[in-house]
Amino acid sequence: MLKGRDVLTLMEFKPDEVKALLEISKEFKARYYSGEIYMPIHLGKTAMLIFEKPSTRTRVSTSVAAYQLGMNVIVASPQELQLGRGETIADTARTLSRYVHVIAARVYKHEALEELAQHADVPVLNLLSDKFHPLQSLADALTIWEKRGRLEGAKVAFVGDVGNNVAASLVVIGSKLGWEVRLIGPRQLWRNDLSRLAEDAGRTGARVYQSDSLEELRGVDVVYTDVWVSMGFEKEAEERERLLRPYQVNSAVMELAGPQALFMHCLPAHRGMEVTDDVMDGPRSVVWDQAENRLHTAKAVLAAVTP
Ligand code: CP
Ligand code: NVA
Repeated sequence: MLKGRDVLTLMEFKPDEVKALLEISKEFKARYYSGEIYMPIHLGKTAMLIFEKPSTRTRVSTSVAAYQLGMNVIVASPQELQLGRGETIADTARTLSRYVHVIAARVYKHEALEELAQHADVPVLNLLSDKFHPLQSLADALTIWEKRGRLEGAKVAFVGDVGNNVAASLVVIGSKLGWEVRLIGPRQLWRNDLSRLAEDAGRTGARVYQSDSLEELRGVDVVYTDVWVSMGFEKEAEERERLLRPYQVNSAVMELAGPQALFMHCLPAHRGMEVTDDVMDGPRSVVWDQAENRLHTAKAVLAAVTP
C-alpha cells in the first residue's frame, strides 16, 4: 500500500495510512523488546542519507533502523558528493536511483526535497527541511499514543516558535489523528497556512488554533516545545529570543497546564532557553522515550516505503 511512496510532509498520506505507519511502529517496538532486533526484510538493499545540516537523532535512528531491516546505509553531506561542486539535484537523483532503494535528506530548502523526489525513481524521505519534520511527528504521535493509551483525540499545545518545521508537522499529524493542536506563541511568529496544514480536520474532528496566551495551556495532555532558533535561522536569533522569552516552558508553565500534562521536545534542547532543567529532567518529561521512538517509527517508514 505504501511501497514506493515519498514522505515529504505526511500531508500526502491519508489518515488511515498514517495510523497504519504508527501501528507498524508499535509492532516493531514490541518485536524489538522481545529480542527481534534484526528483521532483515530489506536485505541487500541500500538507503542513502544526505545531510545538509547537523543531526544526532535523525542520522543515527534512521541509520540503525535501516541496518536492522538488513539494509546497507550510506551517509554523506553535499560536500562529500558532487552536489557540493554544482552537480544538479536532478542529476544526483537520477544517478542515485540506479544504486539505492531509498533516498533520505535533511535540507535547508524544502524545495530541494521536492526536486529530489521529482527526479528520483525511488522513494524520497524528508529528514527535516525548513518547513516540515514528518518523521519526528510520527515519533511524537507514537509517544503520545503510548503515554495516553489512545491515539485519537489528544490535546497538544506547542509553545514557542509556532511557525517552525516541528510545529507544522505536529499540526499535520494532529489533523490526521483528530487532535486538538493549540499553537501558543507571539503573534509575530503566527502561521498563515494553518487551514492548509490541517486540511483533514473537517473529516477527523481535529481542531487547530493559535493563541498568544499561555492560559490556553490549561487542560492539555502535552506541552511541547522546540528551540527558539531553528537551523538556518541563526541571523534572526536575537529577535526570536526577545519574542520567545515569555514562552519558556518552566515549572510555572507546567503547573498552569495542569498535573496531567506531559512535557515533550523533539530535541536537541537549549536548556535554560525554551525549557528549564527541572522540566526537562522532571517526572513529566517523556523526551527520552520520544527520542527512542524515532528508531521504531523510522524503521516502520523504511519497511513500508522501500520497494
Ligand atoms: N529531533 C531531531 O531531529 O534531532 P536531530 O537534529 O539530532 O536529528
Ligand atoms: N526546529 C528545529 C528542529 C531540530 C530537530 C530545527 O529545525 O533546527
